Amino acid sequence: MTKLHAAISAVGSYVPEFVLTNALLETMVETNDEWITSRTGIKERRILKDKDKGTSYLAIQAAKDLIEKKQLDPHSIDLVLVATATPDLLVASTAAYVASEIGAINAFSYDLQAACSSFLYGMSTAAAYIEAGRYKKVLLIGADKMSSIIDYSDRATCIIFGDGAGAALFEPNNEGYGLQDEYLRSDGIGRNFLKMEAGGSLLPASIETVQNKQHHVYQDGKTVFKFAVSNMADAAAKIMERNALTKDQVDWLVPHQANNRIIDATAKRMEVDTSKVMNNIAKYGNTTSATLPLLLADYENQLKKGDKLVFAAFGGGFTWGSIYLTWAYDN
Ligand code: UT7
Repeated sequence: MTKLHAAISAVGSYVPEFVLTNALLETMVETNDEWITSRTGIKERRILKDKDKGTSYLAIQAAKDLIEKKQLDPHSIDLVLVATATPDLLVASTAAYVASEIGAINAFSYDLQAACSSFLYGMSTAAAYIEAGRYKKVLLIGADKMSSIIDYSDRATCIIFGDGAGAALFEPNNEGYGLQDEYLRSDGIGRNFLKMEAGGSLLPASIETVQNKQHHVYQDGKTVFKFAVSNMADAAAKIMERNALTKDQVDWLVPHQANNRIIDATAKRMEVDTSKVMNNIAKYGNTTSATLPLLLADYENQLKKGDKLVFAAFGGGFTWGSIYLTWAYDN
């Protein structure tokens, strides 16, 4: 019996209107465009300004974009996964709200959290349900309102992150296209280097945690950078080796958008030409769970049926890995 493959059959995306440029950041913290551009590659990010809108708003817009483009009946969706590090609420599932709002009334839904690797891990989850024959339409959304947990007086983090969302529909594919292989890893050593300290069960919210700014992202950038460079590149190289993919056979590298230097190091290790590296970090910065689907949406017009895509990501935890997927449709 041939293996059932799980392919991406549609993508959608959404970024909020407000543009936070490097020039604007220069008026908020001690930084400058030259430093940000040369150290990260970021020029601007999108910020969801509306106080009464959370991550679900971004996710719903991205899902609606996909539904409209694909002319998809939301009643046919079996499962909605929201990959996010910034859920609307800590206990109530963001995905449940998103599913109801987009009319996916026959679906069950839940959130998935693995920091910047959330979407990559979510691809594995979505594909596993399809490959097992359990469900036929799994909607995976990567969404983060990072601005809700950023301290805009901390120049080490506020220049990096932005808000956004992207969605991908996973369906069975009988031509063999879709997810081919995955190499996913984690290491709990990382939780001291990239975290939001308070608000969880370890350190519940209190007046002190608010005063100490422990409800914002803290990052030891240098340490995270070192782990990210070696692990993202290793994972992508491993996927290539395991699938006997040569640098010429890889059509696209789809890397998490955290820093251009990490992206370049991964491409170099794989020996793939920069023309094959998807990149939109200059426009959106690091949108955490949304970087990979935002890339797919931005590059959808250039993708051809059969293209070989290597995804790679690294995030808090630490969590990281790589996925090899073949593209299933011409746009
Ligand atoms: O997506 C999840 C995973 N996250 C990542 O992969 C992020 C990994 N880390 C990074 O991308 C980089 O470490 C950063 C972009 C965060 C920082 O770049 P860096 O090259 O590691 O800079 P640094 O922290 O070593 O700082 C170098 C200098 C310092 O000054 P001194 O001590 O050399 O005088 C900083 O104080 O740059 C200074 N600096 C800044 N200057 C202007 C730090 N932040 C800024 C800033 N503007 N925003």
